[in-house]
Amino acid sequence: MTAALERVLALLDPRARPRDAEAASTGGYLDLLGPEEPAPTGPAQRLMLTRAVPLVYERWWRPALGRVAKGVRGPGMADEHRIARLLLGVGPGDGVLDVACGPGNFTREFARRVGDTGLSVGIDASSTMLARAVQDTPDPYGNTAFVRGDAVELPFRDAAFDAVCCFAALHLFAEPFTALDHMTRVLTPGGRIAIFTSCRTRSAPLRTVDALMGRRSGMRMFEPDEVTGALEQRGFEDVAQRVTGLTQFVGGRLAVEVPRRR
Ligand SMILES: C[S@@+](CC[C@H](N)C(=O)[O-])C[C@H]1O[C@@H](n2cnc3c(N)ncnc32)[C@H](O)[C@@H]1O
Repeated sequence: MTAALERVLALLDPRARPRDAEAASTGGYLDLLGPEEPAPTGPAQRLMLTRAVPLVYERWWRPALGRVAKGVRGPGMADEHRIARLLLGVGPGDGVLDVACGPGNFTREFARRVGDTGLSVGIDASSTMLARAVQDTPDPYGNTAFVRGDAVELPFRDAAFDAVCCFAALHLFAEPFTALDHMTRVLTPGGRIAIFTSCRTRSAPLRTVDALMGRRSGMRMFEPDEVTGALEQRGFEDVAQRVTGLTQFVGGRLAVEVPRRR
């Protein structure tokens, strides 16, 4: 088991710890689901479990679909990385959780920022995505680890991370607001969150189109103030939102004094 995975074990909720951590990490990531898969919420999520999509995801799939969803004038992939960096403000020594990390395209970026004293952890439910993440992540700093688990029931201790990122995934979860409860719970007070997800338009004719798109793909289309409101309810301050096309970037900082919801 890698040194980074050893460090992840210490961050797990004791109830989520595998009995045999060595056996659970033979694929290079810590597998907390075994043969279980969270039930796919629709065709979009089912594709993430295939072998084909992880092969082309980072280079072709994500930039192309992102462009359609964000609009032609929306931010490109390099801008998304910049937005994540700005919203999370991660620095040396921080612990970052990348929820629904896919092939680790953002997890790797956070690893570069936090340096060898920090830790960048990606969690995803798809074993094919995680296999790709492990293959594409040489981990020169020994600070990057991947976990197979469910975003709707994060397996980590309370206040385990300084920053939580969830890009291109909240709209795929069966229970996105429960997932937000967990992201809040695992953040340290004063910690930052960054979310990139769907956003319905306000214009009546376009709302018919985006409702249809959502139904066909199994992706939830959030109302413009739904995610920002959910963060404020959970004790986030300085909540900021940028809407682009049918998507939104949202960030916030968890208040230092937050009544814990779980
Ligand atoms: C579109 S990819 C996003 C990957 C990366 N965050 C990005 O921005 O490119 C969505 C990911 O969400 C993961 N996912 C969907 N539902 C999940 C769940 N309940 N728990 C963990 N991961 C989930 C899928 O396996 C997939 O890798």
